[in-house]
Amino acid sequence: MRIKRILITGASGQIGSVLTEALVIKYGKQNVIVTDINKPSHDLAKFEILNILDKERLLSLIDQYQITEIYHLAALLSAKGEQNPLFTWELNMNGLFNVLEAAREKNIDRIFYPSSIAIYGDRTPRIDTPQDTVFNPSTVYGMSKLAGEHWCAYYHKRFGLDIRSLRYPGIVSYQSLPGGGTTDYAVEIFHYAIKGDHYTCYLKDDTRLPMMYIPDAIRATLSLMEAPSEKINERGSYNLSGMDFTPKELVAEIQKNIPDFTTDYAPDFRQAIADSWSDSIDDSAARNDWGWSPNYDLESMTKDMILNLKKKIKTALPSTKQIVKEL
Ligand code: SER
Repeated sequence: MRIKRILITGASGQIGSVLTEALVIKYGKQNVIVTDINKPSHDLAKFEILNILDKERLLSLIDQYQITEIYHLAALLSAKGEQNPLFTWELNMNGLFNVLEAAREKNIDRIFYPSSIAIYGDRTPRIDTPQDTVFNPSTVYGMSKLAGEHWCAYYHKRFGLDIRSLRYPGIVSYQSLPGGGTTDYAVEIFHYAIKGDHYTCYLKDDTRLPMMYIPDAIRATLSLMEAPSEKINERGSYNLSGMDFTPKELVAEIQKNIPDFTTDYAPDFRQAIADSWSDSIDDSAARNDWGWSPNYDLESMTKDMILNLKKKIKTALPSTKQIVKEL
C-alpha cells in the first residue's frame, strides 16, 4: 500500500470540516488536502480552490499532491437543491462522474461517497427501513444520491474501483452550521437555545427523522474506510442509524438543560420533504459487515451539544475582546 494522501471535496461543509480534523489527526497535516469553492474557516490542512465540475483542475490536484484517496463530499442538499433542480442534478451527478473518472485514470486506491436518507420515499417502508427495498426519492438531491449509489456499484463491478458509501441520517454538530438540508433544524435549534432566543421550527412537532451526532458520523466514515475490502459486501451504500427523534422530543430534551427555552412551529416546504423520509433505519448490514454501532443517543448528544456550544462562546470571547482592543 502507498502512503495515504487524501483529497476531500466539499471540505468546508458541515461534515467536511470535522472529517478534515479527524483525518489530519490520523494521517498528518501533510497528507490531507482540502478543497471547496469556499475557503474553510480553519487552516487545519492545505486548502485548494476546486469547483468539482472542473475535471481538469481535479486531475491536476491529484497529480500535484500524489493523491491516493478521495472523500467526495461536494453536493447540494435536499432543501437548497429544490430551488434549482437542474443545476443540483448537474452538480451532484457530474461532480461524481468527475471523481469516478479521475479515480479510474489516476489509479486512486479508495473513494468515499456519502449517500443519504433522502433516497427513501413515500413507498419506502417507514419504520426500520431495510437495506434493500423500494426507493422513490422525492427530491432531486435524493434522486442524485440514489443514482450515485448505482454508479458507485457499477464502477466497482466494471472497473474494480474501491468505493465505499454510507446513507447518512441528518447530522447534528456544533462545529459549523449545515447548509440547505431538511434536517438542519436539529442544529439551528441549539444555537437559539444557547443564546436564550425563541425558535420557530419549520417542521411540525411530531415529524420523526433519523439523526446522528457528528462524532458517530465521523467514526462510521473512518471505520468503513479502514475496513478490509472483503468485509464490504455492499458497494452501493450502507444504511446507517444513530437515533431518531421529533422536534418535540428534542425540545423537551433541551429544556431539561435550558428550562426557559421556548419554541413554536411554522411548517414550510421542507415539511413535505421530511414527510417522505423514514422514521427509523435498519442498519444491520453495517453492523454485521464492519462492526458498526453508534455511541450517542438523544440525551447524551443534547448534553454534549450544549456543553460544546457553551465552550465555543467562551473561547470566542477573548479573541473578540482582542479584536475590539486592537481597533
Ligand atoms: N441532511 C440532509 C438533508 O437534510 C439529508 O441527507 O438534506
